[in-house]
Amino acid sequence: MLDIRPAPRGSRPAPRPTGVERTFAPDELIVSKTDPRGVISYANDVFLRVSGYDADEVLGQPHNLIRHPEMPRAVFKLLWDTLAARQEVFAYIDNLAADGAHYWVLAHVTPSYGANGAVVGYHSNRRRPAPSAVARVQPLYRALVAEERRQPTARAAVEASTRVLTETLVDRQQTYDDFVWSIINDEES
Ligand SMILES: Cc1cc2nc3c(=O)[nH]c(=O)nc-3n(C[C@H](O)[C@H](O)[C@H](O)COP(=O)(O)O)c2cc1C
Repeated sequence: MLDIRPAPRGSRPAPRPTGVERTFAPDELIVSKTDPRGVISYANDVFLRVSGYDADEVLGQPHNLIRHPEMPRAVFKLLWDTLAARQEVFAYIDNLAADGAHYWVLAHVTPSYGANGAVVGYHSNRRRPAPSAVARVQPLYRALVAEERRQPTARAAVEASTRVLTETLVDRQQTYDDFVWSIINDEES
């Protein structure tokens, strides 16, 4: 089986998921900023509290520090492809905290531009999703990860799950953005 956990980095080994779910208050925002490669340059107090990391463990680290192994690669490919097209992206993401707990977020990620119009970084604001929204996302994500685990390489995994994601959305006559917004409109309001 393909192991897609991030490699250990910094002073702590990569946490093993415990299955314990953590949430945060509906009026809180988890915020981070990155450079154009996704290296974290800012994390707010809510980010640090919920992820369980200290600021010095987070700043300067790639954002996959909090990547959960049950998150499909296709979703991150879509996130980066959308940002590369200079568009903002909404995504449901399950994150892995330092102690192995996990926490779902509804992320809104936007590019930041310098005076010359070049991308100087990215900014992510995250709200707590409704449990009913997560329940609608999970079957799709589980199917994507299952498809990835049938593949022999990471490259094949991202291609396969992207294909399944694209086919699923075509069947529903939705973009990923439509999919997220249909859930937001039904569940989060
Ligand atoms: C502004 C910004 C915020 C991000 N937030 C997260 C996040 O909360 N969780 C996460 O797993 N990846 C996040 N990513 C995506 C990561 O950079 C990375 O693509 C992802 O964790 C997959 O890692 P992998 O390529 O090592 O599998 C973010 C990227 C950017 C640019």
